[in-house]
Amino acid sequence: MSRFVTSSPILTILATLLAAPLAAQPGDVGKLYEMHCAACHGDDLAGGSAPSMLDDAWTLGASDEDIARSIRVGSLDNGMPAWEGALSEAEIRAMVVFIRERRNAAASAGTEVAARGAEVRTVAGHAYRVEDVVGGLATPWGLAFLPDGRMLITEKPGRLRVLENGRLSAPVAGTPAVLDHGQGGLMEVALHPDFKDNGWIYLAFSERAPGRGEREGMTALVRGRLRDGRWVDEELIYRAPPEKARTAAHHWGSRIAFDGHGYLFFPIGDRGAQEQAQRLDLPNGKIHRIHDDGRIPADNPFVDTPGALPTIWSYGHRNPQGLDFNPADGSLWSTEHGPRGGDELNLVQRGKNYGWPVITYGINYNGTPITDRTSAPGLEQPVLHWTPSIAVCGIDFYEGAAFPAWRGGLLVTALAGEDVRLLRFEGGRVVSQDSLLRRAGRVRDVGCGPDGTVYAVLNGPDKIVRLVPAATPVSVR
Ligand code: HEC
Repeated sequence: MSRFVTSSPILTILATLLAAPLAAQPGDVGKLYEMHCAACHGDDLAGGSAPSMLDDAWTLGASDEDIARSIRVGSLDNGMPAWEGALSEAEIRAMVVFIRERRNAAASAGTEVAARGAEVRTVAGHAYRVEDVVGGLATPWGLAFLPDGRMLITEKPGRLRVLENGRLSAPVAGTPAVLDHGQGGLMEVALHPDFKDNGWIYLAFSERAPGRGEREGMTALVRGRLRDGRWVDEELIYRAPPEKARTAAHHWGSRIAFDGHGYLFFPIGDRGAQEQAQRLDLPNGKIHRIHDDGRIPADNPFVDTPGALPTIWSYGHRNPQGLDFNPADGSLWSTEHGPRGGDELNLVQRGKNYGWPVITYGINYNGTPITDRTSAPGLEQPVLHWTPSIAVCGIDFYEGAAFPAWRGGLLVTALAGEDVRLLRFEGGRVVSQDSLLRRAGRVRDVGCGPDGTVYAVLNGPDKIVRLVPAATPVSVR
């Protein structure tokens, strides 16, 4: 209100009248929720990147006063923003009432699960239906296909599973212990390009840093082999200097992409410390490049920069969780979660700075700006950005035989957006974006099966589905 301090009484009255409709009435609380909270807790409060508020499980306290405090002061280390200042005390109280009401309504309604298996859709030149592949998983995160048709699936709490002829194996014994904390856990699984000859399987996970506190962690990579249902021959491929670990529970990044010439690329998110994405002496907020056995390439961009970590390939990233090479030209692409708005698709190039948090198309979750700049000299622009955020996650350049018209396109998954999108390019620009799997659940990863069908990893419901060609309906002219 300070802008009205020196005004005349009439202006003050006018200002009061004008300002009144802007103050949230209790009836607006649903709007406030949608605007400020839905991106993380889900449109229906059933959870997303943040916990469900419908299950009566409260880690930060269950009384009305506890919940109000959780909203007021947040849980910054775990990715819950503080809302005092952004929301008034009345709005926070209205929010508690709103959460209780919605919880009661959900309890009496039960849960409905969309059964849409039989529905045929036609998108971008192909008719397809969506089939369930396997359920009964706990937060599946990544998938990879073995040459013999078996599928490897990671579950975030720390399990690697094998799907063979529709049957899910027991968890593979001997995989590394993960720090199952917030957004972290067992995340990516990927096969070496020469897997047929060498049998190497790579895992990326959140690791408790050796010799550090219970919750201090960073993203780490190992490789190993699968023998008689066990994880064996494990080798450590990447671990950041342990003193660089952070207690934050979010923004671990984690994907693995091989370029086919012996190099491996992987991202680490900013680990909740946005300004650190700009620092070359820290591993977070970066995409890294190493040899497939973990050695550091002598020609990495910052090997001769004093103080810089030599594994860094590019920097200024917030939380990239999609990474893939375009087989058509060998270029490297990433998708990166923005804050509120500003999800990005980036063409990742050697030594470049992608700008977070100096430039971004997003804003803070509480509505305050992060920066007034969306571009600046020397900082890379995304090829595409999504505002509002769809929470972009895993990506895959589609090269399969099942949907020829989709070849060369990029499949992009969305968690909050609950979708798999098909992006098509012309001259390095995105010229179309089609929805393939709208509202099926939060989609974390996508991959092309040996038969060319498209597999998607869903969270809530936790399962894997696939898109299979359906007979094209006879077109009516
Ligand atoms: C950027 C993501 C994000 C946004 C936006 C967000 N939250 Fe959260 N919230 C979280 C996370 C993550 C947690 C879990 C924190 C923890 O476990 O310490 C959480 C926890 C909570 C809790 C405590 C849950 C418990 O189990 O005790 C409440 C209540 C809550 N949020 C309410 C809200 C409300 C209301 C809003 C909107 C005004 C909101 N949150 C916006 C991420 C978010």
